[in-house]
Amino acid sequence: MLKIENMTMRFGGVVAANKFNAHIKKGQIVGLIGPNGAGKTTIFNVVTGVYKPTEGKVIFNPGDKEHDITGMAPDEIAKLGVCRTFQNIRLFKDMTVLDNVFIGNHLRIKSNVFSSIIRIPSYRKEEREMFEKSLYLLDRVGLLDEKDEKAHSLPYGKQRRLEIARALATEPKLLLLDEPAAGMNPQESKELMDFILNIKDEFDLTVFLIEHHMDVVMGICEDILVLDHGELIAQGDPETIQKDQRVIEAYLGVD
Ligand SMILES: Nc1ncnc2c1ncn2[C@@H]1O[C@H](COP(=O)(O)OP(=O)(O)O)[C@@H](O)[C@H]1O
Ligand SMILES: [Mg+2]
Repeated sequence: MLKIENMTMRFGGVVAANKFNAHIKKGQIVGLIGPNGAGKTTIFNVVTGVYKPTEGKVIFNPGDKEHDITGMAPDEIAKLGVCRTFQNIRLFKDMTVLDNVFIGNHLRIKSNVFSSIIRIPSYRKEEREMFEKSLYLLDRVGLLDEKDEKAHSLPYGKQRRLEIARALATEPKLLLLDEPAAGMNPQESKELMDFILNIKDEFDLTVFLIEHHMDVVMGICEDILVLDHGELIAQGDPETIQKDQRVIEAYLGVD
């Protein structure tokens, strides 16, 4: 579904990703781990079109054919079926919880601007469907009771789930989650783990996950990529990764 090939991303003198390679198959949950500053978010930014890589390619296959999405605009990549959440939560803070999800739907609107302005019946029908879908997604992430609250009034963990609901509204095939368990306690991150597994099944998702909570990564990822200073230093299943000497050194220091 996703191939990142020989991807290098430089910011001036900083090499955030160096000849990075990754292959993700449909239906997998793949983890991306590594110390702070290793280049994890940069890889998500390249895949979602925030940055055009200095070198290399990103190929996405939603199921029909391979699309070279290297340097494509973020909204075009999203339309093909790649959506993400952000390490630093990005919500429309002064809008309601419901409106935040509703906005996610707009990527899939079929009606044109004209029909939406004069509100012809087909547009109103589509709008009603989007409304119902938004309510369903809020219910699914456990936020239906808070639908009329302002997004900024939600506690942290719920804002993270709202961001996931908004991402789901875009109907992604590949979902990228950037540290979804950040700031969560062990109980919350356990719930998040079950939640990710459930939405993966229900929405037929492939998941690319950056996470520091090792219980989450080791619990749900079948394949794990370990990044250090922009380089892939290890790849494998949770058991292999936990025993890997380079991984242990990257996290704990050489001594
Ligand atoms: N837009 C940018 N401009 C300059 N340097 C950047 C930019 N984005 C990331 N970097 C640098 O790239 C490196 C990797 O950052 P990042 O991808 O955020 O790491 P991680 O997500 O693994 O913590 C860091 O040294 C960071 O300072
Ligand atoms: Mg990051």
